[in-house]
Amino acid sequence: MGVCHAATARGRGPVKALMFRAERGNMSEDGCSPRKVIAMTTMTMAQSWWPKAAERWSESERRLLGLLDPSRLPAHVAVIMDGNGRWARQRGLISRIKGHEAGIESVREATRTCAELGLRVLTLYAFSKENWARPSAEVSALMNLLSRFLVAERDELMENNIRLRMIGAREDLPDSARRALDETMALTAGNDGMTLNLALSYGARDELARATRRIAEAVERGELRPEQITPDVIAQHLDTADLPDPDLLIRTSGELRVSNFLLWQIAYAEIHVTPVLWPDFRREQLLSALVDFQGRERRYGTVRDLNES
Ligand code: FPP
Repeated sequence: MGVCHAATARGRGPVKALMFRAERGNMSEDGCSPRKVIAMTTMTMAQSWWPKAAERWSESERRLLGLLDPSRLPAHVAVIMDGNGRWARQRGLISRIKGHEAGIESVREATRTCAELGLRVLTLYAFSKENWARPSAEVSALMNLLSRFLVAERDELMENNIRLRMIGAREDLPDSARRALDETMALTAGNDGMTLNLALSYGARDELARATRRIAEAVERGELRPEQITPDVIAQHLDTADLPDPDLLIRTSGELRVSNFLLWQIAYAEIHVTPVLWPDFRREQLLSALVDFQGRERRYGTVRDLNES
């Protein structure tokens, strides 16, 4: 089958040239019918912003990508990665750690896909303050996985221009994880593409307490008066001070809770809960969440049309 080269009409951009021919009902010189020309036009427009990697995505992933409006993608997506233990149990695996290991591949795919789509920030809830209370073997396994991940992903982060940062109580982490984290953060500090923000030993109440303590210290030093404490001042003292608030919060495994995650920052986030367990949450599920997000009407506490009665 011949390739249609209709996009070269005199003095018009490729899409305009195709439209022009289609409107006139002309066959192009290489024999494209108006219908084919319109189909090609739509394809050209839909694909113009697509990441190069989408060529290798499945048909259903490309169909979801085609539903997205690139001008309305969330700047910041935050994810509560839940269901690793259930995933392992469902497969008859005795160790929950197998679920966490499988979850690493979802971490990798979500990170790469968000970077390819041009999102600014992806925050992943990798280990909560409360997770320290899990059996010590599971805690050690998670810390080992984290250290290995932070070393193994360095090339991938550099290739994709991704900056790594963290939120949470860094000092709680064991030495090996802290070292791997510091080195990877230093290596990627100059990257100006997406920020991968790992929540590690993170709890929103702990973050708010630490922020409040720092504000109180500033007041004590006479650098700040109590009446100067505004929501902006509080936000500037949070671990996320340099990041936009999440637009979309995703939770896997179907639980309807926010689990002490970014309590301040998710004030106006859209929430997408899926029953899919984290190790099964891959590119297709992520794209579905983005499509769902774009179907929401964000009002930030106002009404849609101020002229409506
Ligand atoms: C919740 O599943 C998941 C976690 C507590 C940890 C998430 C960790 C990973 C995905 C792997 C490590 C991450 C990085 C970034 C290296 P759960 O164990 O609570 O599952 P359950 O509710 O089914 O028991």
